[in-house]
Amino acid sequence: MSTAGATCSAGAILPPQRRALRLPDRFDLAPVDDRNFSACERVGQAIDAVVAGWLASCGYDRLFVTLATPDFAMGLSALVRSLRTVSDVPILVLTQGDFVPDVEADDVAFLEVPPLVRLGHAFPADAQHLAVTLSKLWVFSLTRPARVAFIDADCLVLQPIDDLFDGEGFAAVPDLFINYKTPAFNAGVFAFTPSAEISRGLFQRLPELSVGDGDQGILNAFFPNWRQLPQGLNFLRAHALVRAQAQDQAIRIVHYTPSKPWVPAPVSPRDPVLAPLDELWTERLTPVEHVALVRDWRARLATAEANIASWIGPDTAKFLQDDMDFADGRKRRRRERRLKYGLVALVVLQAVQASFIAWMLLHQTNALK
Ligand code: GLC
Ligand code: MN
Repeated sequence: MSTAGATCSAGAILPPQRRALRLPDRFDLAPVDDRNFSACERVGQAIDAVVAGWLASCGYDRLFVTLATPDFAMGLSALVRSLRTVSDVPILVLTQGDFVPDVEADDVAFLEVPPLVRLGHAFPADAQHLAVTLSKLWVFSLTRPARVAFIDADCLVLQPIDDLFDGEGFAAVPDLFINYKTPAFNAGVFAFTPSAEISRGLFQRLPELSVGDGDQGILNAFFPNWRQLPQGLNFLRAHALVRAQAQDQAIRIVHYTPSKPWVPAPVSPRDPVLAPLDELWTERLTPVEHVALVRDWRARLATAEANIASWIGPDTAKFLQDDMDFADGRKRRRRERRLKYGLVALVVLQAVQASFIAWMLLHQTNALK
């Protein structure tokens, strides 16, 4: 096992590769079926041991954890940077896929974990992102920290949140987005007191729990007696309707779900009311990240433009022209109609005026008589 160099930095910021923890070599990071309890247990125990060694060297017994894939790299930087401005508690980044996160903060370690999967389960085409969320459950492998707070990598921390470590039991924030009709919590932010019982209990029950809603469905089924945290600890970007109620000062974590601020095409319709929340995120980027984001958006735009150009062959262009002519024709006819009605109205008005003047003249002539 190699954790060399991943010890706490005692003030100095170590380069990313030196903060990478590693599972022992016998773990090849191949996907683990969540129905294979002994495989889950083996990997879980290895994760627990590696993390415990690192955390002890930091001199802490509390821990923030997040999970990041390459497509969340930018979200991860903003999360870690924002979290570090309000808390010194070590941050463990579980990673998946081929990337070494590039975040400059103290007491942050990365650990690549194997994908946790439900073999044979196919997520619908528009919900592929749910598959990776199962790997969040590796956080329950931890048994030794006194308390753990998990935060999704699409979150931004605005104010101190260390009180997440207070109290006991599983604590989370009600989900007013997808689950607003049922008392369910959102799995983007939660805190729990790790134990071997919880770890074993969860991995044992996994096979009977539905993975259809990703980790959120599983955790809601497994922790029916959750403790409710204030809404401001996981303010879903989708909360357009509750935004007015949730006083801005009370928002401590913004959770960019479902739309991510680093993705140009929003999943949900753009809501101008929420633009300031996206700006809070953008403000956290470094100049280098800004440039990377603009470069990415330009590349996406170029692809979209190239696609549009290739879809518009000469025939399509002709139809488009016809459509435009048709639309123009309609517009012209509408303008002509308005002019016609205007003229008629003018004529009627003048006729009324003329009759009024005639009536007045007649009236005056009669009066003079
Ligand atoms: C929701 C939650 C997210 C969770 C996902 C899958 O999008 O916000 O935290 O991982 O559902 O369950
Ligand atoms: Mn999320």
